[in-house]
Amino acid sequence: MKKDFISIKDHDARTINHLIRQAYNLKAQARAGKKHELLQGESLAMIFDKPSTRTRVSFDVAMYELGGHAINITAGECGLGTRESVPDVARTLSRFCDAIMIRTFGHDTALGLAEHASVPVINGLTDLMHPCQAMADALTMYEITGDLKGVRLTYIGDANNVTNSLIHLAEKTGIELTVCTPKNYAPDKKMTAENEALLTNDPSAAVKKADFIYTDVWASMGQEKLAAQKNKAFKDYQVNGQLLKKAPKNVKIMHCLPAHRGLEITDEVIDDPVRSIVFEQAENRLHAQKAILVYLLK
Ligand code: CP
Ligand code: NVA
Repeated sequence: MKKDFISIKDHDARTINHLIRQAYNLKAQARAGKKHELLQGESLAMIFDKPSTRTRVSFDVAMYELGGHAINITAGECGLGTRESVPDVARTLSRFCDAIMIRTFGHDTALGLAEHASVPVINGLTDLMHPCQAMADALTMYEITGDLKGVRLTYIGDANNVTNSLIHLAEKTGIELTVCTPKNYAPDKKMTAENEALLTNDPSAAVKKADFIYTDVWASMGQEKLAAQKNKAFKDYQVNGQLLKKAPKNVKIMHCLPAHRGLEITDEVIDDPVRSIVFEQAENRLHAQKAILVYLLK
C-alpha cells in the first residue's frame, strides 16, 4: 500500500523518530559533500494554492539533490476543485509523477488528493496542519539536544496549523510541549485530547523553564481579514526582550517563518545571534523533507 505524509499522527513513534535521525544523517552527508541518487528519475508534483518560499524551494532542491526533479503548479494553473475535481487531478498527476506535494486551505482537500492518488501525497501545509515544518523543527531541536525526550518546548501565540503539528510531534517524540495562548484561542480540543495539561494562558509561567520558545504569525495565510482583531487579542503574547528575561538564559528562539516582525516577535529577539535558530529551522526543511521523500518513495 502506498504511504502518504498528511499528518505526523498517522505515523508511529518509531517511524517519526527514525525520520528525524535519517534527516540528521542526510544533512551530515550533504555537508560532507556526499552525493545521493536515491530518487534518480523520480518526479514530484507540487501544488501551491497559497504562497511559499521555504516549502517550494526546499522541496525542489531536495528532489534535485536526490537525483529527481520537482514541478511547480500554482493555484491559477491547476484550478484544483474549480477547473478540475480533486480526484481527477489526483488521478492525472499519479500518471506522470511519483509523488505529489500539496499546500492548500482545507485539510480535506489534501485528504481527498491522497485518497484518489495512487502515489504518495505530502502535506506542505493546510489550514489544519504543517507536518513537514514540525519535522524540520524536530531535527533542529535534536541537533542541539541530541535527544528529544524531555526537551521543554513552549509555543506562544496563535494555536494554528504549526501548533497542531507540534502537538503531534510531541506525542511521538516525548518533547514536553507547553502551548500558551489567550483564553479564546486555545487549540481545538481534538488536538489536545491526549494531553490537556500542556495548555496555559500565562506567557511568563510558560517560558520559565523552556529550552525552546516557538512562535508563529497571529494571522495565518487566509486569515488576513482577522488580522486587526487578532493583533489586539494577542498583544500580550509577543515574544520580546521583556519576556525572555523570564526564561532561562540559554533558551533558543524558534519561528517557522515568514515572521510578522513587530507583532508576534520583535527584531531584537528574532535577530539575536545566539538565541535565535530560525534560519537553522528554515534550512532543515530541506534535510527533513529529503528523509520524508526517501521514506515515501523507497
Ligand atoms: N515555513 C514555511 O512553510 O515557509 P513558506 O510559507 O515560505 O513555505
Ligand atoms: N501558520 C502560518 C504558517 C506559515 C508557514 C500560516 O499558515 O500562514
